[in-house]
Amino acid sequence: MSTMPIMPATPESIREAARALARGEIVAFPTETVYGLGANALDGSAVAKIFAAKERPRFNPLIVHVPGLAEAGAFAVIGETARTLAEAFWPGPLSLVLNKRAGSGIADLVTAGLETIALRAPAHAVARALLAETRLPIAAPSANRSGRVSPTTAAHVASELGEVPAMILDGGPCKLGLESTVVSIAGAVPVLLRPGATPREDIERVLGQSLVLAKPDDAITSPGQLATHYAPSTPLRLNVRRPEIGDALLAFGKDVPEGARITINLSHVGDLHEAAANLFAALRELDASGATTIAVMPIPDRGLGEAINDRLNRAACSVPASRASDRS
Ligand code: TXA
Ligand code: MG
Repeated sequence: MSTMPIMPATPESIREAARALARGEIVAFPTETVYGLGANALDGSAVAKIFAAKERPRFNPLIVHVPGLAEAGAFAVIGETARTLAEAFWPGPLSLVLNKRAGSGIADLVTAGLETIALRAPAHAVARALLAETRLPIAAPSANRSGRVSPTTAAHVASELGEVPAMILDGGPCKLGLESTVVSIAGAVPVLLRPGATPREDIERVLGQSLVLAKPDDAITSPGQLATHYAPSTPLRLNVRRPEIGDALLAFGKDVPEGARITINLSHVGDLHEAAANLFAALRELDASGATTIAVMPIPDRGLGEAINDRLNRAACSVPASRASDRS
């Protein structure tokens, strides 16, 4: 389809966008904060397309957009604090990081392999109509290329991403123009992970307590609670062409060497989208296999391979990645 991807948001174009999402395509849509680049959060290869669309992609976890609290419960464990905050601020610019519900079907790539998930119910009428029409959870980062500021008009999205999305739903300029506030309530105390369009004071007033402020290096000092990246505990060795006995092999492509005690192939056909969609589940499985080392075959450094290698390099250095820069 090489039609102009910007479409004024109407009931018909919203229906068409919902159909595109169901087919595994990506669609840009307005929210009250910024434009998002959305995919079906249940479809790993659709989510991989989001990362491919960003020029220098990194697998940061994405916010999953849902209509409200009722739907959120299918994907995350909703405790009292979550309920209180959602009732006070949803729909609106607050993203809640919660413990993921097991077996919810959310693709691993959405949460970057974490046990937590960020959920938000947007307030924008077009976003709400799209959610109602698709009835799918929509994973969506801001619709900018990595390192650029978030787009607040459909024209910004088009100039950043061109015809990469199947469609850009035009709902006019975003009212707030600033991303949602991200608060984690997955740990013992509520933590402000990203300041945003919902003021901290408002959240603290509703909670009746202060938010802990996440410092950029908190991922290192408070593992588990603030770490935003899943890291296997088994050491990684990269660019391995000949695995040793006892290695767990993370393979890629059709020419797989023998000799590893267990092998998982990210993509037999050498497809980087498929590899991205399989990456976190494969790391988890190899990590649990009891191998002494996870040996990783060379993965081409083009397209999504760059993000895959970025992620593997971080895991191999076993220095927890610093928190996602908010230009994600
Ligand atoms: O306003 C917004 O939030 C926009 C619109 C489109 O909804 N979205 C947005 O998404 O700004 P993105 O991907 O650009 O930023 C998501 C932020 C990142 O800082 C990411 O690290 C954090 O949310 N995040 C997502 N899931 C997380 C998780 N499980 N744990 C910790 N942080 C998480
Ligand atoms: Mg962003």
